[in-house]
Amino acid sequence: MDLQDYFSDLTSQPGSTALAELFKLTERPDIISFAGGFPAPDMFLPEEAAEVTRQLLEEKPSTVLGYSPTPGFSALREYLAERQSQMGMPASVDELMVTSGSLQGLDILGRVFLNSGDRIIVEAPTYLGALSTFASYDIIVDSVPVDAEGLDTARLAELLEQRRRQDSLPKLLYTVPTFQNPSGQTMSRQRRQELLDLANRYRFLIIEDNAYGELRFSGEEVPTLKALDTDEKVIYLGTFSKILSPGIRIGWIHAAPQIIERAIQVRQAMDQCSNSLGQLLALEFGRRGLIERQIKKTVGLLGERARLTLDLIACEFPAGTTWTNPEGGFYTWVTLSPGVDTAQLLSHCIEKARVAYVAGIAFYVGKGGNNQLRLCYSQPSLDDISRGIPRLAKALTTRL
Ligand SMILES: Cc1ncc(COP(=O)(O)O)c(C=O)c1O
Repeated sequence: MDLQDYFSDLTSQPGSTALAELFKLTERPDIISFAGGFPAPDMFLPEEAAEVTRQLLEEKPSTVLGYSPTPGFSALREYLAERQSQMGMPASVDELMVTSGSLQGLDILGRVFLNSGDRIIVEAPTYLGALSTFASYDIIVDSVPVDAEGLDTARLAELLEQRRRQDSLPKLLYTVPTFQNPSGQTMSRQRRQELLDLANRYRFLIIEDNAYGELRFSGEEVPTLKALDTDEKVIYLGTFSKILSPGIRIGWIHAAPQIIERAIQVRQAMDQCSNSLGQLLALEFGRRGLIERQIKKTVGLLGERARLTLDLIACEFPAGTTWTNPEGGFYTWVTLSPGVDTAQLLSHCIEKARVAYVAGIAFYVGKGGNNQLRLCYSQPSLDDISRGIPRLAKALTTRL
C-alpha cells in the first residue's frame, strides 16, 4: 500500500531521518563515534543503581510499579526545589514539574505558549533536538549567532529592533547558555545580563536549557540566567540525563506556578506522567549523595577526554581549522576552511576513517554550518580518541 498520501507534511520533510540513519551507522563496533551526545558507560554507577532499584522494588512495589501524579512525585519535586535553591535559583514545589526528559519539557512549553504564526528566536548553531521540536509547530524561527562569549546580544538587539518595527516581536528565546550543544561555548556573565535586559525591554520569555551546566572541568562558575532573573522572564529546563542516566528519561521545568499549571494541563494529553521508577531512582540517588559522586566522576572523565581531543585537533587537523575550547560539557565545534562541505565528507570519513561526527548543517535553521562539524568527546575512551582524531584528520585532509 502506498502511504505517501497519508503521511503528514512534518514527516515528509527531507532529511528528517538523516540523523536516525547516522546513529544506526555509529552502532557499528568498528566505528569510533564522536557523533552522539551521550554519557559514556564508565560515567554511570550501575552497581549503586541496581542496589537502589532492588530496595525500591522491595520496599515500595506499588509506588514503583504504579502511575505517578502528573507533575511528578512530591518528594522528588521537594528535592528538586532544594537543589535548584542551592544552585542560586530559589524554588517552591509549585514552581516545579517533572518531565520525561528535558526535551519533553521543551515540547510542553511549546504547546503552552505557541500559536500558529508566532515567532521565536534560537541560537545559531543550536541543539538539534530543539530544532526538531520547534519544526513540529507552525511558527517562524529566527536565529542569532553564538561566539566565544555565547549568544551575540548586539546582533540580538538589532534583530529585535527590526522585528519591533515590523510588529512581529518573538514570544520566546531558547538558549543553552552553558557548555552549549553543539558549540561548547558558555555565555559570559555580561551577555547574560544583556540578554535579560533585552527580554525585559522587548517582553519575551527565555527558555534556559541547562543540560550540561553542572559538568564544568575548568574555568569559573557563571550564574544561570534563572539565578540572575529578577522579573520571572526565565523558564528553566533541567535534566538527569547527563548527570545520572538518559535512560530513566527524567527532567524538570522550573517556572512560575501559572506556567506549571498550564504545563500540567498539556501533559495530561501527552504521556500523563513520568516513569515512576526513574523518578524514585533519581530521588534516592540525590538523597544518598550519589548524583554528586557521579558528577565528580563524570567531570574528571570529561576533562581528560576534552584535553586529549583538543590537543590532538591542534596537532593533526589541517591548517586553517579553528575549534572551540569548552570549559565543560560534551562538545567541541570545529570550523574547517571555507568551501569544505562536512555533510558531503561524512560518508567518506565513516567508510575510510571509520570515524563519525555530526555535520554542522544539522544545527542551523536554514543555511549555515557547511564547513563545520560537532565532535562529542564524552563517549570515546582515551584510546579511541588517540586513534580516532588522527584518522579523522587524515580523512579530512585527503579530501581538502
Ligand atoms: C541541550 C540539550 N538539551 C536537552 C537535551 C535532551 O535531554 P533529555 O534526555 O533530558 O531529553 C540534550 C541532549 O542531548 C541537550 O543536548
